[in-house]
Amino acid sequence: MPWKNSDNRYSTVSIALHWLMLVLLIAVYACIELRGIFPKGSDGRTLIKEAHFMLGLTVFVLVWLRLFARSLGVAPKILPTPPSWQAFLAKLMHGALYLFMIAMPILGWLITSAEGHQVMFYGIDLPLLVAEDKEFAEQLEDWHVLLGTVGYWLIGLHALAGLYHHYLVRDNTLQRMLPKRG
Ligand code: HEM
Ligand code: HEM
Repeated sequence: MPWKNSDNRYSTVSIALHWLMLVLLIAVYACIELRGIFPKGSDGRTLIKEAHFMLGLTVFVLVWLRLFARSLGVAPKILPTPPSWQAFLAKLMHGALYLFMIAMPILGWLITSAEGHQVMFYGIDLPLLVAEDKEFAEQLEDWHVLLGTVGYWLIGLHALAGLYHHYLVRDNTLQRMLPKRG
């Protein structure tokens, strides 16, 4: 069943979306961090920023699919069972990552709306969420930038925890999130 977790592995859909999301987030961050290579007002700058908006909104669409797949069953067991404080921290981290994937695109869309800029999503012009208000846009942007920095830390710590389990604890935490071989 592509949607359902088995006893020892996440579902194919969850695994595919997990790694696709990693690639998407790298692209989302790269587009905005590298915008400075194009001069302000240039076509290149507009294009790379539009790519940031569109890929960011793709994260927003896919996160609901992930949450749906997740709701279909329980997570596969980690063996040997980690201490309960680790399981608790992992739950907290996963909750924070889901919130991040939902909040960042909404904040971004609110910024572009408050700037009076209509965002294109795969050929569709999205509606403005709020009336034009440059001051509000700047406040939202401060939050978006701050959360963007928080995101680097969350993703970095989460990835490190996964690698720690795999290479040092040598349990099946990471294997559960990898496609079956052979
Ligand atoms: C998961 C999704 C997203 C992430 C991780 C993300 C991350 C970031 C980061 C890190 C920055 C600040 C870069 C800097 O100034 O150092 C930024 C800026 C920005 N983001 Fe996002 N973003 C996401 C989605 C979106 C979406 C969906 C939109 C709009 C529809 C958007 C609109 C903006 C805007 C307008 C800026 C300011 C750009 C500028 O200063 O020229 N973001 N984003
Ligand atoms: C190199 C980078 C990454 C590695 C090595 C990694 C590794 C893992 C592993 C091993 C798990 C299973 C953990 C468990 O069941 O306790 C997991 C789950 C998860 N990962 Fe990642 N991950 C990475 C990047 C990301 C990114 C970029 C995001 C999104 C921002 C993300 C979000 C999640 C979430 C939300 C879960 C929980 C899945 C669920 O139960 O629904 N991961 N990751």
